[in-house]
Amino acid sequence: MTEQPILLKAVGISKQFPGVRALRNVDFEVVAGEVIGLVGENGAGKSTLMKLMSGVYPFDTGTIELKGQPYRPQSPADAQALGISTIYQELALIPYLTVAENIFLNREPRLALGLINYSKMNRDSEELLAQLGTKIPVTRQLNSLPIAAQQMVEIAKAISRSAQLIIMDEPTSSLASSDIGVLFALIKRLKERGIAVIFIGHRMEEVLGIADRIVVMRDGERVGTLPIEEASEEQIIRLMVGRKVELYPKQAAEITTPILEVRNLSDGKFIQSVNLTVRRGEIVGVAGLIGAGRTEVARMIFGADPKSTGQILIDGVVQKIESPIHAVKAGIGLIPEDRKMQGLVLDMDVKENITLSILKWISGFLGWVSGTKQRELGNDYRRRLGIQTPGLWQITRNLSGGNQQKVVIAKWLCMNPKLLILDEPTRGIDIGAKAEVHGLMSQLAAQGMGILMISSELPEIMGMSDRVIVMCNGHITGEFTRQELQQPNAQEAIIARATQFSAT
Ligand SMILES: Nc1ncnc2c1ncn2[C@@H]1O[C@H](COP(=O)(O)OP(=O)(O)OP(=O)(O)O)[C@@H](O)[C@H]1O
Ligand SMILES: [Mg+2]
Repeated sequence: MTEQPILLKAVGISKQFPGVRALRNVDFEVVAGEVIGLVGENGAGKSTLMKLMSGVYPFDTGTIELKGQPYRPQSPADAQALGISTIYQELALIPYLTVAENIFLNREPRLALGLINYSKMNRDSEELLAQLGTKIPVTRQLNSLPIAAQQMVEIAKAISRSAQLIIMDEPTSSLASSDIGVLFALIKRLKERGIAVIFIGHRMEEVLGIADRIVVMRDGERVGTLPIEEASEEQIIRLMVGRKVELYPKQAAEITTPILEVRNLSDGKFIQSVNLTVRRGEIVGVAGLIGAGRTEVARMIFGADPKSTGQILIDGVVQKIESPIHAVKAGIGLIPEDRKMQGLVLDMDVKENITLSILKWISGFLGWVSGTKQRELGNDYRRRLGIQTPGLWQITRNLSGGNQQKVVIAKWLCMNPKLLILDEPTRGIDIGAKAEVHGLMSQLAAQGMGILMISSELPEIMGMSDRVIVMCNGHITGEFTRQELQQPNAQEAIIARATQFSAT
């Protein structure tokens, strides 16, 4: 690797946002054909550093050289023209164009009369995708494809613009594990072609599995660079967080009477007679692959989607839950999977989001919340959850992803539910914040709350649950007690249940 030339060299980069010093004097180097794993807690400055390199924001101080030439992109288009492309978590393609149209948008090959040469465009697109080892029908409309395929298209597009550096900001957060394997194979191909990749991620096993070198950021500074041979999970976490982190801090809680009983729940389409119980003090994990029907069940319990059959009992009493407002009145809280769409009002400030209980919002039930009360509550939760923000006045959109998630959790805790449903509660959250969220769940359970936690991360499921329910294809296919979870082959047993129908 040492004989590869330096592609990009940034020296002394700083960036200030109002009230936030996002980057301090950061040096960063990219060698052609290497994969850099960029890690750090939420708010460490990873995305900001990448946005400076890809022309989204200007930097305040410092210099960047690209292949020895001064580099100061004025826009993302500028950066792309110079060979630096970014794949964001929220993809930037146009849903109603075809795959090929997306790849060649604004650069369509033309015929003599200026008409688009569709056959060439389609052929070239096919070839590009084939080079990446994938076969995606190029005349299909983009939004008819799964997310993983859309991501491939975005990468193909970057390559067609002769990208030399592809930045991937949390690219695996919405992928199923089989698709993560496909993405990693593709990253290896990019490497072989001399294309450098910066991979931002919060899951250590992924970063350690794909990177040649790991760069660790903390509080806007680069605090370490480790060649992969010298990197261990423990050491990375220590650099990231600056302290020791206890993973899966599950405290023993007294598990007593049922809070939630779900009987014979179906949606008439996909979900088939689901039965489950959550007791006071209990954390019930729901495992399964993406698409197994877990979110659908949660939404039906919460009254967000209609049920065709089934009963919901809260504290032993049948409740008619036909809308979220019924659910909230019955004492159920739901922290949804997609916080940007459902959990937060991004343009409101932190304090407003925390105290904006859904009830007050929908019905005015709680009436007017005084400014003092709002600040008190806001400060209380900011401290308890360690929400990193310059102040409660900050617009939530400007918080880093993990801190936004903490605001969503704070908002629901404000309502003091009996049963809290969490759908992928730690997706996109750094290791330190994750341990804090887990600690908080455990503490709430110990105080008598019931928790239903949907997660695609098996270590989280195994580490935090008192009991695990496995779903596959709209059915419950297995159940494991905490004791069974501690058996050596528990993980394989859960995977077997989660893939029960897909194997055939
Ligand atoms: N446009 C903005 N305006 C104000 N502050 C911002 C803006 N963008 C980022 N910040 C702040 O800059 C800091 C760095 O944020 P950044 O998004 O780079 O973190 P990150 O390392 O990518 O975190 P995460 O892992 O949560 O994605 C945070 O404190 C964030 O709140
Ligand atoms: Mg980020």
